[in-house]
Amino acid sequence: MKESLIGKVALITGGTTGIGLVVAQQLAARGVRVAMGGRDQLRGEAAVRSIGDVSKALFVQTDVSDESQVQALVQQTVNHYGGIDFLFNNAGIEGLLGPLTTNTEHVLDQLLAINVKGVLLTLKHVLPHLIERTGGIIVNTASFVGTTVPFPDAVAYGATKAAVLSITRSVALGYANDQIQVYAVCPWITDTPMVDRLTGHQSDAKAAFGSSNPSGRIATPEDIAHVVLSLFFQELDLQSGDAVLVDSGAVWNKIHHLSA
Ligand SMILES: NC(=O)c1ccc[n+]([C@@H]2O[C@H](COP(=O)([O-])OP(=O)(O)OC[C@H]3O[C@@H](n4cnc5c(N)ncnc54)[C@H](OP(=O)(O)O)[C@@H]3O)[C@@H](O)[C@H]2O)c1
Repeated sequence: MKESLIGKVALITGGTTGIGLVVAQQLAARGVRVAMGGRDQLRGEAAVRSIGDVSKALFVQTDVSDESQVQALVQQTVNHYGGIDFLFNNAGIEGLLGPLTTNTEHVLDQLLAINVKGVLLTLKHVLPHLIERTGGIIVNTASFVGTTVPFPDAVAYGATKAAVLSITRSVALGYANDQIQVYAVCPWITDTPMVDRLTGHQSDAKAAFGSSNPSGRIATPEDIAHVVLSLFFQELDLQSGDAVLVDSGAVWNKIHHLSA
């Protein structure tokens, strides 16, 4: 483990529900001060309350697809805490599941604006602060969708997550000399409000997703948070640019069946 984490600062986009919120709560429980960005003010206030110690939590209402709002999120975090050590670049939307022909232009614009431009804008405005501190760790949220297996019902979403993997590798190389490590986390289907929306809150639909995973269940936000925290906390000094699947081997299982 790195030296004391107490007082370190983490900026978390999409930190108000699902995976981002559990990461924020677990970081705060280890003494890290967190700043959370999200669009919904009430969700943000509830997220701050859920941290318990409000001196360790800040919410800034932010739409990551708007550069001036991302700039304000980063600046308010730095003004409040004095700097940034960790970035969890996690805000994302699911778009529409189904054939590409059913996607409206608005859905495609939103997916690209939030899942790709939002990730780039957040990096653009956080990186100078990590460079100033001579180092830091970034985890971008990609997905098992967009890695190697095709998903005809998620063409656009998969394209945005494949972009996150490309961004991760390029930023890792581009900023290696600044002691900045960059990873992507690639969660399997995870029990969050996003999946509630996708399944219409049907528990049997979630169970069906689970049965297609070798573990027999869908992931929990805690499963993903454990991996994200391990990337922030372990001394992986020569590692960067990796994409870490959190899927119980499901992607390789699918490739195995495709090739069998
Ligand atoms: N759940 C899964 O099965 C799964 C699997 C693989 C990857 N992922 C990825 O994991 C990440 C987190 O998803 P989740 O499952 O935890 O979903 P979630 O519960 O819906 O959380 C998404 C978070 O992103 C925020 N957000 C959405 N659009 C935003 C915007 N334009 N600006 C700022 N914040 C925004 C949401 O807050 P507001 O709505 O208030 O803005 C919320 O805090 C996403 O990138 C998703 O693609 C999820």
